Amino acid sequence: MRGKKILIGVTGSIAAYKSAFLVRLLVKEGCDVKVVMTDTAKDFVAPLTFSVLSKSPVATVFANRETGEWTNHVELGLWADAMVIAPATANTTAAMASGICDNLLLAVYLSARCPVFIAPAMDLDMWKHPSTVSNLEKLKSFGNQIITPAFGELASGLTGEGRMEEPENILAILKNFFSHDLPLSGKKVLVTAGPTYENIDPVRFIGNRSSGKMGFAIADELAKQGAEVVLISGPSALTINGNSIHRIDVESAKEMYDACMQHSGSMDMIIMAAAVADYRPESASTQKIKKQNNLMSVSLTPTDDILSELGKRKKVGQVIVGFALETSNELENAKDKLRRKNLDFIVLNSLNDAGAGFNHDTNRIRMIDSAMNTQEFDLKSKTDVAKDIVHVIVEHLNSKKA
Ligand code: CTP
Repeated sequence: MRGKKILIGVTGSIAAYKSAFLVRLLVKEGCDVKVVMTDTAKDFVAPLTFSVLSKSPVATVFANRETGEWTNHVELGLWADAMVIAPATANTTAAMASGICDNLLLAVYLSARCPVFIAPAMDLDMWKHPSTVSNLEKLKSFGNQIITPAFGELASGLTGEGRMEEPENILAILKNFFSHDLPLSGKKVLVTAGPTYENIDPVRFIGNRSSGKMGFAIADELAKQGAEVVLISGPSALTINGNSIHRIDVESAKEMYDACMQHSGSMDMIIMAAAVADYRPESASTQKIKKQNNLMSVSLTPTDDILSELGKRKKVGQVIVGFALETSNELENAKDKLRRKNLDFIVLNSLNDAGAGFNHDTNRIRMIDSAMNTQEFDLKSKTDVAKDIVHVIVEHLNSKKA
């Protein structure tokens, strides 16, 4: 749900208080939420409650008579990835069914191009009334989705069908809806990010300048495209949210190797963006090494190449993407790595490009596939580079399906 733009329409029913919980749940999921309320809804819950919860001003009227300030209902309707009218009263559903447009919420509904979910709330006899039944049938035939009310005690004291569905269940319905239409729904992806630290003694290590930004941006974009992500990260100050990203923190190349081997078997894709140390101290001292006045040397031994090992263990249909950071003979070196490590793609960044590489917010990449086709991209933010990388992989998966 992260990044999804959800527009909540609140109408005049006591169930409006439950919508405050719905807004809170959606915000916690990482959604951008905006709320539009009818006049009567304000009798039940103050707009301030919704504006604080959604962190966004609440739209209630077309225009402010005193200031002339107006709310662009078309813009609101076009902004949303989904509109949820919760609670939807019998009055509002009747107006929606017949195209009446005498308040802001109804105008936004009429101009929305996104999917619309309607969560009715009303007394049991109103719910069963033939006009309500036919209005909802009509709204369904327009392509709207009706979230059927639950059975239980109603505000009137009667018991029956008519209670607005619980916020948790509305959230689950939205999650289910969004998970089906994403290109990477159902795919599991392993992403590595950041540097590795190889201990010399308990306080010193050999590391590198990788910040983890590229790998984190890729994990984030994959999750946005519906994938379930396991992010194995070396030491990094970055944070990442999202239910579909499981982060595993490691420090050394050996720890990263073990975590990758443990998870790789169940993955549909592996994207190895980490800057793994090629060497580690032959033996790390358990005590802090004392200063001496003569020459000091640390003998290094190669670490295991994680990507090569993953390439050897590659399952049928698994897609493996490696990274190459080069300073000379870039294309040849990258193509050689792609072949040697049995990869499907290699992402090449050159340290010769200004603004590319470690610790920058931008990157300029070339992507090479196993048939040695090369795609070049402009210098972009790492977030946009991540979108390009994920897009190329999605296209590749689609071409294999076709
Ligand atoms: N890599 C890895 N395990 C290592 C070293 C690197 O999995 N021990 C991965 C990196 O995550 C990256 C790719 O291999 O995806 C390329 O890493 P790089 O160090 O540039 O390639 P090498 O094959 O080690 O070649 P060289 O250092 O000589 O350029």
